[in-house]
Amino acid sequence: MKPQPALNWPTENIHVRRFVQEIVELCEPSEVHFCDGSEDEDRRLLEQMVQRGTLKPLNPKLRPNSYLALSDPKDVARVEDRTFVCSQDAVSAGPNNNWRDPSEMREKMQPLFKGSMRGRTLYVVPFCMGPLASPYSIIGVEISDSPYVAINMKRMTRMGQAVWQKLGTESTDFVRCVHTVGAPLADDQVDVAWPCNAEKYIVHYPETREIWSFGSGYGGNALLGKKCLALRIASTMGREQGWLAEHMLILGVENPQGEKMYVTAAFPSACGKTNFAMLRPPKAFAGWKITTVGDDIAWLRVGEDGRMYAINPESGFFGVAPGTSVSTNPICMETIQRDTIFTNVAMTEDGDVWWEGMTGEKPARLTDWQGQEWTPDCGRLAAHPNSRFTVSMKQCPSLDSDFENAKGVPISAIIFGGRRAQLVPLVTELESWTAGVYFGATLASETTAAAAGATGVVRRDPLAMLPFCGYDMGSYFKHWLSFDRKDVKLPAVFGVNWFRRDENGKFLWPGYSENMRVLEWIFRRVKGQAKGRPQALGTAPGFEDLNWQGLEAFSAAAFVELNKIDHPAWQAELKEHREFLSRFGENLPHQLMAHQESLNHKLIDGEP
Ligand code: OXD
Ligand code: MN
Repeated sequence: MKPQPALNWPTENIHVRRFVQEIVELCEPSEVHFCDGSEDEDRRLLEQMVQRGTLKPLNPKLRPNSYLALSDPKDVARVEDRTFVCSQDAVSAGPNNNWRDPSEMREKMQPLFKGSMRGRTLYVVPFCMGPLASPYSIIGVEISDSPYVAINMKRMTRMGQAVWQKLGTESTDFVRCVHTVGAPLADDQVDVAWPCNAEKYIVHYPETREIWSFGSGYGGNALLGKKCLALRIASTMGREQGWLAEHMLILGVENPQGEKMYVTAAFPSACGKTNFAMLRPPKAFAGWKITTVGDDIAWLRVGEDGRMYAINPESGFFGVAPGTSVSTNPICMETIQRDTIFTNVAMTEDGDVWWEGMTGEKPARLTDWQGQEWTPDCGRLAAHPNSRFTVSMKQCPSLDSDFENAKGVPISAIIFGGRRAQLVPLVTELESWTAGVYFGATLASETTAAAAGATGVVRRDPLAMLPFCGYDMGSYFKHWLSFDRKDVKLPAVFGVNWFRRDENGKFLWPGYSENMRVLEWIFRRVKGQAKGRPQALGTAPGFEDLNWQGLEAFSAAAFVELNKIDHPAWQAELKEHREFLSRFGENLPHQLMAHQESLNHKLIDGEP
């Protein structure tokens, strides 16, 4: 037997020590490195990864201090069918999760993890989800044999020495995260650039707050602070403790008079949350400011004043690259101008990055995401549709001044939206909390490349949380409804759809920065200053209720089309809602079905 590697403990915490010791014994790495989160450490890890071929440095003149990683072509997205929630009983995981008995799963995991880090360095990555000074933040310790994980966690979380200080020497209050790429190296074996395993398991034990991930090095499968901790585990904690962990962006909106409010929005994966969170208002909206608190996850709690407050547990972006350009998201393009890790995008001849939609004209020659020569006529995509950038939020020019506020920011409105070619109007204010939760619960979207599987298929994605809710959806809806009580000043709730198309398949709404017109209406609506018209789903703006300055070509007739409620089609849609919601059986709160009935009556009675 090989001697155990030396452990230079950076913390006295006995529970951390036991945890690390146990995983070292199980996974048998050749070295152990405790990450301190320093710039020096980051530089060394980047250099090592360049030497091993995992990272390619980009041209420092064009993209300073930035790197490109190309993954194994079979490890490019979250693997929802390999994601498991192992609660004590199946009922509490619900039909929305792949449930396995925790003891059986542990038995299965044991031989997979045994010796899984042989020949590799084990990194201990202490991280904090949420501002270090916030009582609402959650500490995680991720043990991983991937240096790519370590450098990404540094950009996306508060990672390093300060976390041990926050945790203290006695606390057991941390989420244990174990990750291996599942590719042990024999003594003389040469490593590949992106080690991974064909077999993958992303396993959550909500009761013991543990995450065990095997076989993938990519995104949410491996960066365990994001989807696994901040959504799946945190949602179960929020349910027990009376708060909400949500798949939502958070933004600030300020009018020219300096009045400001904060809004959260839940859109399913890759529906433009990053674009909306960094929206740059069109010229006609001079004096309006949008500031970014987060682009993916929000933790919501009721504050002492009864309002809902949100913190973003993350401190970096892991955004989808394709489609991002100076016209769709100029602030994002500035954010990723330097100090960025790109994964699975294409490389230009002069050592910069490129992806579909980045420029109007395609470059004549590229190296594609699989490292092959690419020309515009080769018939392949240059960047993988789920290719990403990882970057610290510190670099975002629109970062909100209260991003680090320990209490969070007060939320005035919640927006739900999906990618729907038909049916769903541009914007509706829902009449009540229950109506809002119903709209959220029946949210649907055309699938995109964020998860492995077919794209372009409409799938229901309640509150954009279907792949991320760590317990059963029926109880989750109940938990949402439980905030409708006297001591809570609830935010207003709106439904939006930027993606409606005409009969020729053409988008009816320009989207992107023009979404400011909708946001302005929402802002004025919350302040009681904007008019709207009742229709079956709620209250919608009339053409004259939106500001059209700078978009005068948009006609009143087109607006009618965009906001039309097709009553027979909606009645059919309600039927589909019913079928979908019935999956959640006994746990489905009766208020949702009661709301559906009243909606159905409105549609039959022919309200406009
Ligand atoms: C993401 C996702 O990566 O939702 O944010 O898939
Ligand atoms: Mn997401």
